[in-house]
Amino acid sequence: MQAPDELREVVETSLAELELDGSLGALTEPMRYALAGGGKRIRPVLCLAVCEAAGGRVEDALRAATALELVHTFSLVHDDLPALDDDDERRGRPSLHVAFGEAVALLAGDALLTEAFGLAARCERPEIARELARATLGMIGGQHLDVTGADVPLDALHRLKTGRLLAAAVGLGLWSAGVPEPQQEPWRTFGEELGVLFQAIDDVLDGDGYAAELGADGARRLALDTAGRARERLQGLDADTTVLEELVDGLAVRTV
Ligand code: IPE
Ligand code: IPE
Ligand code: MG
Ligand code: MG
Repeated sequence: MQAPDELREVVETSLAELELDGSLGALTEPMRYALAGGGKRIRPVLCLAVCEAAGGRVEDALRAATALELVHTFSLVHDDLPALDDDDERRGRPSLHVAFGEAVALLAGDALLTEAFGLAARCERPEIARELARATLGMIGGQHLDVTGADVPLDALHRLKTGRLLAAAVGLGLWSAGVPEPQQEPWRTFGEELGVLFQAIDDVLDGDGYAAELGADGARRLALDTAGRARERLQGLDADTTVLEELVDGLAVRTV
């Protein structure tokens, strides 16, 4: 079993060595800038860890995990654009449109998304591209609810905007390990809990969302309760889930 830090290294190497389509020319520079940005890599690490815990090998899930991080990176590039959140910084550096201009950031995002599906299409199981597409569309639907200020409950918005890609990390790990669909459900329930856990802490750190609705202490309590439930789900699985438990603990106490 590889520890979270080792899995993170595997992801970093995969991203650094990622082959980008030759026809992109100089657009690959901003794409690599976005990919190199020192993110936590929680989604791909989770995907690899689930695959390993479910009896697969880390290599079996690497393409799917990388594709998922490409989608996430695309979502951040577009999210920062002036038309959406208009954020000048991402991961402590100028956001992509500040560094390269808005038109280039838009195109780099498009290309990251397309590269993601190029990779997913080369995964052995067709379910992987299908699940990634569904998760990406859910995330985009959530972004739409967010930017239009739609009057929907917070948890419905989060389930789409952040929950879908996190849940897909679990789903892609399961397909990569070859877990048959009827046996996936208890793992997937774990994935749903993770989405809430991630978001509750994110909102404590940003002082919005659940923290605005429940207060910082309330959001922290929600995170702790959810982490407890996520651990219980893991303990109910017939698998060595120590690495996944470590990831849950890390998500519950993260400060970035
Ligand atoms: C940031 O996601 C955007 C949200 C979904 C809230 P992460 O917190 O996973 O960002 P990085 O990849 O570590 O920068
Ligand atoms: C980031 O969301 C993008 C997606 C979740 C798709 P937010 O706008 O809520 O997060 P930050 O604060 O920019 O990372
Ligand atoms: Mg946003
Ligand atoms: Mg934003």
